[in-house]
Amino acid sequence: MNKEKTYPLNLRRSRQNLSIRNLLADVQLSSSQLIQPYFVYQGLNESEELKALSGQRQHTADSLLKEIEVGLENKINSVLLFIIPNKKSFHDFDYSFDTNIIENVKRNFGHDLVLMTDICLCSHTQDGHCGFTNKQGEILNDPSVKELARKSLQFAQAGVDVLAPSDMMDSRIAAIRNILNQNQLEKTLIMSYSSKFSSHFYGPFREAAQSTPSFGDRKTYQIDPRNLKDALHSSDRDALEGADILMVKPALAYLDIISKVKSKHSHLPLAAYQVSGEYQGLKLMAEHGLLDFDLALKETFYSIKRAGADLIITYGANRLGKEFS
Ligand code: PBG
Repeated sequence: MNKEKTYPLNLRRSRQNLSIRNLLADVQLSSSQLIQPYFVYQGLNESEELKALSGQRQHTADSLLKEIEVGLENKINSVLLFIIPNKKSFHDFDYSFDTNIIENVKRNFGHDLVLMTDICLCSHTQDGHCGFTNKQGEILNDPSVKELARKSLQFAQAGVDVLAPSDMMDSRIAAIRNILNQNQLEKTLIMSYSSKFSSHFYGPFREAAQSTPSFGDRKTYQIDPRNLKDALHSSDRDALEGADILMVKPALAYLDIISKVKSKHSHLPLAAYQVSGEYQGLKLMAEHGLLDFDLALKETFYSIKRAGADLIITYGANRLGKEFS
């Protein structure tokens, strides 16, 4: 008689029920590692939904405070602000609206909240570029860095906990660290957008932040999507210049970069930015009935974490925060 061969349970043993799967999961995500971005606009009377980025809003100073409170109830303690002025110009940027917002948020939430702010020039410049340009349309590095340092100083003095330069000019981390130290602001952290790619996934954000360049593109300062070496070099440089947190952006199409930056800089926290196009893409699929938005979003958080990110900046932080508390 031919005895039928049996196959003993092997790998499936650890997959057999949810409690065992939870116990053995490699990735344990906490809501304290999720960062929620917000957009605040000068001259806006009432908060409105952002059409390009569903579920997100254009905030006034007041609606921002309310939304941060909702976030805190959902266990989201870190926020990244994009503050958008109503006047665009080529020079003499005025940051008083920005610093008022920062002071107001800090006055209301103090240390219950980690307040991060984007540092870039693109929502101030008339041409939408992340630095100053000359008549030939070239982006000028050093004058831009000087302005980024001036902006950083004012933001730090207003009480920001973490400055997040997203401009990609050379040497800005060193310049910002220097100006902070010279002004007894050693406690302010810098989260550098250290490996930031020139990506098409920023589309919805640029509409929201009014920062689409009026000519050319950002390829002379952001990293070419084909390049691993440049991305590693760029994070190495920012780590050396004194960044406290590194970042890879976007996240999902760049998981290999996350993994490699993490292994080279295991002593530094690493953030990954799940950018507007990545988020909105899932949303559009969900709206077509092709997937469950929350479950798919959660899966992307796990993959970003598994690749090596410690922190995730995502428009879905408030939405899913409670699930990770
Ligand atoms: C500004 C900035 C951008 C994003 C964050 N900061 C756009 C860009 O570089 O063009 C993108 C964020 C997103 O898409 O969610 N420099």
